[in-house]
Amino acid sequence: MLQFEPNMRVGIDVLDNQHKSLIGALNRLMDALWDGKGREEVCNSIKFLLDYTVTHFSDEEEWMERYRFPELEGHRLIHRQFVERVQGLAKACSEGTITSDLAISTFYDTWDWLKDHILKMDKRYGKFITERMGLSQK
Ligand SMILES: [Fe+2]
Repeated sequence: MLQFEPNMRVGIDVLDNQHKSLIGALNRLMDALWDGKGREEVCNSIKFLLDYTVTHFSDEEEWMERYRFPELEGHRLIHRQFVERVQGLAKACSEGTITSDLAISTFYDTWDWLKDHILKMDKRYGKFITERMGLSQK
């Protein structure tokens, strides 16, 4: 079971909660894969992960825009590349070419990516925005 760790907090409640839900979406995919729930549930989980990711990234980008975070464009590009990767998996689902190896390796990549992205990139806008708001990241 993947977990949200306290050092992953960016300090903006709505976005921290979305990160928790994203981890929840990954756990749902992990359950579907490990419990052998079959292609339909695996693909439903992937679809949910994709939709949730798109919504979350657009919310994050709105926050960065609103506070004129200077690194927004680079951040946006990285979001887009990640969405394309999950889209690739969703496409494999709709075309019926999904395999458990593909889903499992994407699952691990996605978790590593997400954790690293939150710790290295999201925390940067978190620091910038919370400072502007006069809040602390803790
Ligand atoms: Fe991000």
